[in-house]
Order: sequence, then C-alpha cells, then structure tokens
Amino acid sequence: MNRPIRIALTKGRLEKDTVALFEKIGFDCTAVREKGRKLILPIADANLEVVLAKANDVITYVEHGVCDMGVVGKDTIMEMQGKCFELLDLGFGRCKFALATKKGSPFYGGFKVKTVATKYPNITRSWFEGKGMDVDIVKIEGSVELAPLLELADGIVDIVETGTTLKENGLEVIEDVCPVSARMIVNPVSMKLRQAEIEKLVSLIEKTL
Ligand code: PRP
Repeated sequence: MNRPIRIALTKGRLEKDTVALFEKIGFDCTAVREKGRKLILPIADANLEVVLAKANDVITYVEHGVCDMGVVGKDTIMEMQGKCFELLDLGFGRCKFALATKKGSPFYGGFKVKTVATKYPNITRSWFEGKGMDVDIVKIEGSVELAPLLELADGIVDIVETGTTLKENGLEVIEDVCPVSARMIVNPVSMKLRQAEIEKLVSLIEKTL
C-alpha cells in the first residue's frame, strides 16, 4: 500500500467538524479523538494521516507538498494568496468578513474611514482598493474589536460569526465584505501523483456532505 495521504487540519473547530465528517463517512477516527498532545495521527482504515496545525501553517505545509491535502478557512486562503488548488467547499465553518465600526458612528457613509484595523491586511487592502478608497491599515493579531474602542482605528475588517463579539463591544456591521467557509485544498503535485485516492476521498465527502 502507498504511504498514507497526509491531510493537515486547522486545529480547533474545523478539525472537529472534519473529524465528524470523516466519522459520518465511516472512518475510524479514534486516534484523532484520543490524541492527547500528539500532532500527527493515523486514520488507518482510510490510509490517511492527520496533521494538526494552525490555519496559516496548513497552507504552508500543503504548498510545500509535505502535506497532500488540507482543511482551512477561505479567510486564510484569501489572505495568504496561496498556490494550492481548492477542491471543495465543505460547508462548515460558515461566517463572513465584514467592515464594522462603533455603533452609530458617522464614518463609512461619509467616506471617512481613514484607518482600519484587521488581522487580514491583504483582504482589507484589496477590498478598499476595489472601492477606490485609500485607507491606512493597521495589522492587529487578535481581538481586533479593541482597535476602534481604543480609537486606534475608525473601523475593523474582521470575521463575524454570530455577531456577539461586535454587539457586546458596541460595534456594528456597516457592510459585508464576503462569505467564508471551510475549504479542502490539495497540493498540485499530490493531485497528479495520488489522483485516484484523492478523487475517491473527495467523492466520499461529496456524498456525505
Ligand atoms: C473571531 C473574530 C471575532 C469573533 C467573531 O475571533 O476575530 O473576534 O471570532 O465571532 P462572533 O461573531 O461569533 O462573536 P476569534 O475567536 O478567532 O479570536 P481572536 O480575535 O483572538 O483571533
């Protein structure tokens, strides 16, 4: 048998949703469920090997071909402008990118958004460029909502899922940027070399979704 197909999963919610999907297909994911602190886990009956990584690193490992496939959010794919093929929209991890400001703020409508804080500078830059708006972008690593509250920025471009974080911090969505969901990506060389196995896995997933 060939070596297992190595698939990098984004640790956390996407990992859990992917494992649930694999179990629905009928794969035995006991090793992943009982992983402890291990980072590489077998799904032996499917000849798969799961690698647990942070979102940006999923793309890095797949781009370098050390993982054949990956599960990662469209947000990370867009921001990293990666060279991987997107095989499938997995439908889970649904949320959106949105521009938000402090509630009732007069900004955006009057084109007065001058400074925008975000974890996603590339996405933010290209969205504002598309609108012909020149804004300063400040890169923030987490809890971007703080930036307008501390008056570092007029607005934020960030992931909104339930809207609770915005609401509890007195912020509101001004405009949606784009929808986001989990994607299955593949390394182009792996796609050629392991085509039959990858297509079989994709077809099992498609039937189960
Ligand atoms: C994300 C995002 C928002 C929050 C939105 O942050 O950056 O802060 O979730 O979710 P909600 O609309 O359901 O409230 P995350 O939890 O990933 O943490 P981080 O800000 O530290 O990256």
